[in-house]
Amino acid sequence: MNKYTQYKAEVAGTGMHVPKKVLTNFDLEKTLDTSDEWIRTRTGIRERRIAGEGESSSTLAAQAGNQALNSAGVAPEEVDLIIVCTSTPDILFPSTACFVQKEIGAVNAAAYDISAVCSGFVFGLSIAEQYLKSGRYRYVLVIGSETNSRIVDWTDRSTCILFGDGAGAALLKRTESAGSGGLLSSHIYSDGGKSDLIIVPGGIGKTGVSCKSVEAGDYFIKMLGNATFKVAVKRMVEVSQEALEFNGFTHKDVDLVVPHQANRRIMDVVTEKLGIPADRIFINIDKYGNTSAASIPIALHEAWGEGRIAPGNLVLLPVIGAGLTWGAALIRW
Ligand code: ACO
Repeated sequence: MNKYTQYKAEVAGTGMHVPKKVLTNFDLEKTLDTSDEWIRTRTGIRERRIAGEGESSSTLAAQAGNQALNSAGVAPEEVDLIIVCTSTPDILFPSTACFVQKEIGAVNAAAYDISAVCSGFVFGLSIAEQYLKSGRYRYVLVIGSETNSRIVDWTDRSTCILFGDGAGAALLKRTESAGSGGLLSSHIYSDGGKSDLIIVPGGIGKTGVSCKSVEAGDYFIKMLGNATFKVAVKRMVEVSQEALEFNGFTHKDVDLVVPHQANRRIMDVVTEKLGIPADRIFINIDKYGNTSAASIPIALHEAWGEGRIAPGNLVLLPVIGAGLTWGAALIRW
């Protein structure tokens, strides 16, 4: 045992930022062979936000990050590390996190991106957890930020209706106080054998950018929706049960599930299989669609803001994403 083992990681503040432009299902009816009724009943989505000119994953992330710092009353100079979870970085490099660091003035922070697609935020939390619980850092800012609208094929009705843009952030703080609160544990997994379920096949290091790839639409999201749905349910249930058992809890102890907002039906089936009643799930997919790595921190920020999470509550965050990646974090608020 070392001198740092007494440390815990707590959520000190949250923030979010979404573009102003709203794209409704009715708007999509005008350009696609789809309907508001189909999209709502199959996914729960009514509208999503779309980044405008001058907006990118870094600009959305910086605003969400600033809000998280303000809500915690922490100055940017105090941040030790910024992790931006994104699969839509502004450019290949430097990292989106470096742009965010400059924008918010976190001059003492190291900054880097991680890529775990929709699972990004929970993967980011698990990294922050290690730095904080080990005592190495005091403040870690974890931001999920995406501009999915730039990598969806707006002629492919099976994918483009699902995704939206936005950013959410959580400032994690090392604390020495006794008690049972904080980020209790995080559990993350990957299965590269299922990489073809959700993929943007356009090569960078593999083939270089080529006109051929662009013409073939290789820089757009391709998804096997049905197969993804089934594996998403299985893995989110499994890993949620693992997180609960690891901490000596059962489904009855959970006050609120804040799941990745991929599809309303996935969230309903997962919580039903876990035995958690519908009034203990937080859902905002109707307003934002699937914002990938931003979905959980946006939902967490809104749930807290709306009073759905109170001090002492047990909050479960299950997630699934391309890779395949999946995970869950359990927080005693
Ligand atoms: N409007 C109208 N009809 C449509 C649309 C649309 N937007 N999209 C598909 N259809 C049609 C299909 O063409 C098909 O028609 P057919 O029967 O004549 O062939 C029919 O609807 C049924 O299609 P399915 O794909 O079987 O529809 P399903 O009920 O599976 O819903 C969906 C599709 C919403 C994509 C669902 O499979 C899903 O949500 N999957 C999981 C997505 C997910 O969780 N992704 C993980 C995270 S994403 C990430 O990590 C980047």
